[in-house]
Amino acid sequence: MSTSTHAKPGGKAAARSAHDVPLAYQSGFGNEFATEALPGALPLGQNSPQRAPYGLYAEQLNGTAFTAPRGANLRSWAYRIRPAAVHHPFRPLDNGRIVSAFGEIVTPPNQLRWDPLPLPKAPTDFVAGLVTMAGNGDPAAMTGCAIHLYAANRSMTDRYFYDADGELLIVPQQGRLRLSTEFGRLDVAPHEVAVIPRGVRFRVELLDAEAGEGARGYVCENYGAPFRLPDLGVIGSNGLANPRDFLTPVAWYEDREGKFELVAKFMGNLWFADIGHSPLDVVAWHGNCAPYKYDLRRFNAIGSISFDHPDPSIFLVLQSQSDTFGVDTIDFVIFPPRILAMEHTFRPPWFHRNIASEFMGLIHGVYDAKAEGFLPGGASLHNCMTGHGPDAETFDKASALDTTKAAYVRDTMAFMFETRAVIRPTRLALESAQLQHEYYRCWQGLRKNFDPAKR
Ligand SMILES: [Fe+2]
Repeated sequence: MSTSTHAKPGGKAAARSAHDVPLAYQSGFGNEFATEALPGALPLGQNSPQRAPYGLYAEQLNGTAFTAPRGANLRSWAYRIRPAAVHHPFRPLDNGRIVSAFGEIVTPPNQLRWDPLPLPKAPTDFVAGLVTMAGNGDPAAMTGCAIHLYAANRSMTDRYFYDADGELLIVPQQGRLRLSTEFGRLDVAPHEVAVIPRGVRFRVELLDAEAGEGARGYVCENYGAPFRLPDLGVIGSNGLANPRDFLTPVAWYEDREGKFELVAKFMGNLWFADIGHSPLDVVAWHGNCAPYKYDLRRFNAIGSISFDHPDPSIFLVLQSQSDTFGVDTIDFVIFPPRILAMEHTFRPPWFHRNIASEFMGLIHGVYDAKAEGFLPGGASLHNCMTGHGPDAETFDKASALDTTKAAYVRDTMAFMFETRAVIRPTRLALESAQLQHEYYRCWQGLRKNFDPAKR
């Protein structure tokens, strides 16, 4: 059974007017939020009263172990029309182009780069439009990640999705998305990102599909510890991604009955179950385990004001920590517009080989280490100890630049999913028509400049 055959077209005219209303949010990262769509729907003073208001069911969702330290503990209480348990048994669904176990094909140490994924011609919703490019670890061990691209041209109408394997960091590159979740709705446009916690049920609507624009972007499926804001150390109490710029939905629900499908991703496979009502039926909730979004343009980029530039960890937005102190499973890093003022410095990202592995994407514009070939919607992968850096054209330009003047990097928004473990491309990615076989050539023009007689 194909994933794309399950969604049915919906009422577009009604949806368009509803989409015009700006959504309300609550501000702050990981706050103890409390929100209700009906007055008095949240019980006061306790979580699980004998009878919840309005005849609602109380249900808890954990994002961490019960015993996780207070500062890391994530859980929310939902007051809903029906508990999440009410659905028919799950049956296997074709995984389509979703891969969760890596190692089906040998991982080459080459620099890899891909053109953007073409938008689909056949009707394809967000879930059906997911293509796994690479990943590492294992959802069964709750460590590692899968990196997907998505390309879709229709909204999910009668099906809902949840991912038990991981938290989803969604990075739109083209087309706005409305994420209707159990915890409320988020509108997410390119330059914004959204995070859906593990297990949260949601539906994706394409806000620009009626104008003929499809939706395309990237997804990091984080099998491990939930993303958190990094510590700031000597930076101080402000800077990078500021907590108040993270937005979480207010409670919203639909009381909708009919023939729907609940799609689950569990242990690397897709499953579907018949469900007679919308699972987006949470009338009120409180807690700190909930979806959120963040506008990358709010990122306070910090860099050198003397010479050289810091390691790219200075651009860290969110991190998923591993069990080893100081070593993250995943770092979500961005390369936003910024001003480069460093003197007598080679200003673009230097040549390097890292122990970490780097999957990059481009949301908008041009990335400052690559003059050409790295396109919005495209991707690159530089794995552990694979040499890379600026291309020959960028090197020549930056070496001749007058560094007494500041340079403005304005028209750009690139990002990186950087991981501790090697990122293994899927067979699909390595055999993809979008793979740029000539990518290595961008460094072949780096001439020998060495002259022992000329210091
Ligand atoms: Fe790199």
